[in-house]
Amino acid sequence: MQRRAAELRAALHHHGHRYYVLDDPEIGDDEYDALLDELRGLEAAHPELVTSDSPTRRVGGEPVSSLAKVTHELPMLSLANARSPEELRAWIERMSSHLAREGIEDPDFTYVAEPKIDGLAIALRYEDGVLVRGATRGNGEVGEDVTHNLRTMPTIPLTVQGAPPVLEVRGEVYMSLTDFAALNERRAQDGLSTFMNPRNAAAGTVRQLDPRLARERPLSMWCYGVGVTDGLTFSSHWDSLEWLREHGFRVNADVTLLTSEDEVVAQCLAWQERRGALDFEIDGVVVKVSDRELQRRLGAVGRDPRWAVAWKFPPTTKVTTLLDVLWNVGKFGDLHPFAVLEPVHVGGVTVKLATLHNEEDLLRKDLRVGDEVIVLRAGDVIPQVLSPAPHAVERPDRADPPRPPARCPSCETPTVKPAESVFTCCPNRLCPDRQWQLLKHFVSRGAMDIDGLGEKQVAALARRGLIATAADLYRLTEEQLTELEGYGEISARNTLAAIDASRERPFGRVLFAVGLEEVGEVTGRNLAARFRTIDALLAATPEEIEATPGVGPKMAQRIAQQLADEQMRALIADLREQGVRFELEGPAPGAGPLVDRTFVLTGSLPELTREEATQRILAAGGRVTSGVSKKTDYVVAGASPGSKLEKAERLEVAVLDEPGLLALLDPED
Ligand code: IVH
Repeated sequence: MQRRAAELRAALHHHGHRYYVLDDPEIGDDEYDALLDELRGLEAAHPELVTSDSPTRRVGGEPVSSLAKVTHELPMLSLANARSPEELRAWIERMSSHLAREGIEDPDFTYVAEPKIDGLAIALRYEDGVLVRGATRGNGEVGEDVTHNLRTMPTIPLTVQGAPPVLEVRGEVYMSLTDFAALNERRAQDGLSTFMNPRNAAAGTVRQLDPRLARERPLSMWCYGVGVTDGLTFSSHWDSLEWLREHGFRVNADVTLLTSEDEVVAQCLAWQERRGALDFEIDGVVVKVSDRELQRRLGAVGRDPRWAVAWKFPPTTKVTTLLDVLWNVGKFGDLHPFAVLEPVHVGGVTVKLATLHNEEDLLRKDLRVGDEVIVLRAGDVIPQVLSPAPHAVERPDRADPPRPPARCPSCETPTVKPAESVFTCCPNRLCPDRQWQLLKHFVSRGAMDIDGLGEKQVAALARRGLIATAADLYRLTEEQLTELEGYGEISARNTLAAIDASRERPFGRVLFAVGLEEVGEVTGRNLAARFRTIDALLAATPEEIEATPGVGPKMAQRIAQQLADEQMRALIADLREQGVRFELEGPAPGAGPLVDRTFVLTGSLPELTREEATQRILAAGGRVTSGVSKKTDYVVAGASPGSKLEKAERLEVAVLDEPGLLALLDPED
C-alpha cells in the first residue's frame, strides 16, 4: 500500500508537471483525476501515508490569522526603466563606462531578454528540496509569508529533486487574461465588486488569509531567477534559468539569449508587437546581463542593479465610460454588439469603439450603459471591454442590461433568435449590411486576397449597384471603376488585374471565401483536399462531409444544408462561369513525395510566405497542422520561431529550415 501511494504520488507529480509547467500533457484530465482520487482514498484510510509533498496537499491547509513578516536574506531588487531604443543603448553605454573605470575594457556582454510579467514578485524558499516558505516582495527588504496560498498553485513544485540544501527561486505570480475575465464575470454575476486588472486580482488572491480562495482562483507563476543558494553556483543567469527549467520550475519558453545591442533592441520591439497575442499581461521586457561575474562588478545604484533594465510598454487597460451598445450585422446575419466608449487613450491609440463579442458574453460580463468599464487594447488586437470597473457593480441606479434589437439595424427586418445559435439574427439574405460583410470577406486577405479592394471600395461599389454578389466583381470594367472616388486609370487597371489574378486562388481558399458558415481557412482547405472538385462536394452527403478532418456531425449538417441552398448554388455556378477555380490542382490523394507527412510551420521563412509554404506542402500530398504533437513529422522553423520549435525539440520531432523543406518538396533538385 505504501508502495502504491508512492507510485501514485510520483505519477501525479510527473503528469502535473507535464500539464501545468510544460503545457504538454500526456494523459487526459479524467485519467489524472482518477489517479488523484485513488491517492486521496488511500490517504484518507491511512493518514500515516500522507507526505508533505503529496499532490493532495495542494489544498494549502488551514486559514492563517494574519500574514507574518519575512525579511529577505538577499533584498529583492527593482529595475531602472528604458522607454526607447536610445535609452536601451544608453544603458549599455553606461555599463561599459562603469566597467572601463573598473579596468575592464570592451566587455563581452551576453544578454537575456525576458517578458516583464505584470503580476507580483514572489520568493520561494526550499530547504533540502522541500518548499518551506513563499513570500511576497513587499518593499524589497521585508515581505509577507504567503506559503499557504502558494502551496495551492500547481505550477509551484512542492519538492525539488537534486536541489542544494538551500535554494531560493524568484519569479512572478500572475493571473491569465482568460482566467481574469472569467473571475470578474463570476463576481459581477454574484454582485461582488470586480478586480481592476489581472495584477490586482493576483495580488489580492495571494494575500488572502484563507487558502481555499487561492485554490479556486487560477494563479500561475513564471520563474525568472535564483536568489539565495547554498551549495549551488551559476556562472551565468542563462545557466540558472536552464537549471530551474530542468528542475521542474516554469520558465517562459520565449526567454532569449542575445549577443548584441541591435539584437536587444530588435527583441524588445518584437515583444511589444507580440504582446496582444499572449494570454497574460506583460508590461515590458527585462534585459539582463547574463554573466554573473560582470553582474557582480556592475553592482547596483540604490535598489536598481546596473546589470538589468526594464523596457516598459504603455499600459493596455484603462477605465472609461460605456456610452452605448450598438449592433453590427455579420456575414450570416448574426448580430454582434459593440461598445461606444468615451474616447480613451490606451495601448498607444485612442479607442472609441470596442468589441463585445456576442450577447451571451455581454450578459455574462454584466455590462450596462453608463457603467465605468475596463477596456483592453494590446498590440494589434481589436480593443475589447473586459468588465465593469470595480465600483460600477455596486451602483443601485444602473441601467437595465442591453438587449439585442427587435429589428435589424441595417434593413429593419424583425430579428430572430435561432435556438442553436448564440446570436440573434437578421433573417433577410438580401440585407445590405450582410451582403457587404460577405463581399468584404470575399476580397480579404486569407480569402481571395484582392489587392486594391477593401471595405470602403466594396461599400462604394455596392452602393452604386455595381456589385450585388461576389461574382459581379469579375464583370467590373475599367470605366465603372474610374467613376468611383479614389480610382485613377492606373489604380483601376491594377485592381482589375488583381481581380483577374484571384481566379487562380486555390480551391480551398475559394471554399473559405464564398462564405459558408463553419468553414474557416483550415476547413476550406481540408474540404478541398478531401473532395477535390466542387461537383464531388455538392453531391456529398452530410456523412461523407463528416469524414473530413476537423468536421463534426453538426458542422457537416450545416455545411451540407448551405451547399444545397439555391442562392449558394447560383453563386458557385456564377463564379465558376467567371473562371474561378473550383477544383484542386496537384497529385491525387496517395501521390506526391510528402504523402502522409504532417508539417507544422513556425517563424518566418526567408523566401516563402507561410501561405506559399502551406500550398507547396499540400500540393506534394502533405498535411499542415497548427500544433506540434508526437504525430508531427516535421517542424519547419524560420526566424523568431517561438515555443513550437521548443516543443519540437522536446518531442524529438525533425526540424527543417527552408532549404530542407525545398529539398523534400523537390527531391530531384
Ligand atoms: S528581475 C534584477 N525579471 O518587475 C532584479 N523582474 O521592476 C529585479 N518582473 O519586482 C527583478 N518580470 O515583480 C525580473 N522577468 C522578470 C520580471 C520581473 C516581472 C517584476 C518583478 C520586479 C519588478 C521590478
